[in-house]
Amino acid sequence: MKLSSPHFNVMYKACRKAAKNIIRNFGEIENLQVSLKGPGDFVTASDKKAEKIIIEELQNARPDYSILSEEIGEIKNDASFKWIIDPIDGTSNFLHGIPHFAISIGLEHNKEIICGIIYDPIKDEMFAAEKGKGSYLNNQRIRVSSRYKLKDSIIFTGGPRFNAKDKDASLKEYMKFSSIVTIPIRKLGSASLDMAYVASGRCDGFWQRNLNYWDIAAGIIIVKEAGGFITDTKGGNKYIEDKNILVTNSKISDEMIEVLR
Ligand code: 2AM
Ligand code: CA
Repeated sequence: MKLSSPHFNVMYKACRKAAKNIIRNFGEIENLQVSLKGPGDFVTASDKKAEKIIIEELQNARPDYSILSEEIGEIKNDASFKWIIDPIDGTSNFLHGIPHFAISIGLEHNKEIICGIIYDPIKDEMFAAEKGKGSYLNNQRIRVSSRYKLKDSIIFTGGPRFNAKDKDASLKEYMKFSSIVTIPIRKLGSASLDMAYVASGRCDGFWQRNLNYWDIAAGIIIVKEAGGFITDTKGGNKYIEDKNILVTNSKISDEMIEVLR
């Protein structure tokens, strides 16, 4: 990787170690699909195991940093540095044997994300960024797309979950996009990879409700360092608190906000 700060190296090592375990377990999933019980418990165990590997590695290197992670929640420590972890983002894909999910690790310093890694272990694609140093896919510098018009774009979304409180609002947003523009709308099932794909120019815009901080933390710095734009769906900066996010190549933000209004 072109990035090589001590922080980055710690995250990289943790990520690689967990990925080995995840890849091995993903290979087992196919066998479990045909079993009566299905792969549910096995997937939960894989998720927890990956989380344990990541946390152990990070804690060994930086014992005094705080942690926020999807399965175990918060470990409070040094308030200024915090690791934010999603061990398997795209769990439903993983469960069904669909090779599209990622490990996501972000590092927050004084409430700002300064370093992030999103690793798709099956495609061996590592998206990473550090504040002021740019975004990379493996060893190549990445940039957001240069499409200026929504009508030429491809956009992504995710959700809503079955029991979401604002399910109707989510579906309405989808209807608005699909009735206003004739462009493809995709739902790939991993929010972190959705953000990484905006950063690398594969996707022009992505919006979603109800995402948690661990779904988006690493993506925030990767998108910003690639020249992308992140707001809430009204165009403000409350995307973490309000749990609704709009991520774009920066050029189609206004048009997307207009549709979401
Ligand atoms: P997960 O796989 O780690 O659960 C799917 O739309 C994407 O949204 C995944 O990244 C999924 O993360 C995430 N997600 C997490 N919580 C969600 C929620 N309450 N509603 C919809 N998607 C959610
Ligand atoms: Ca997630």
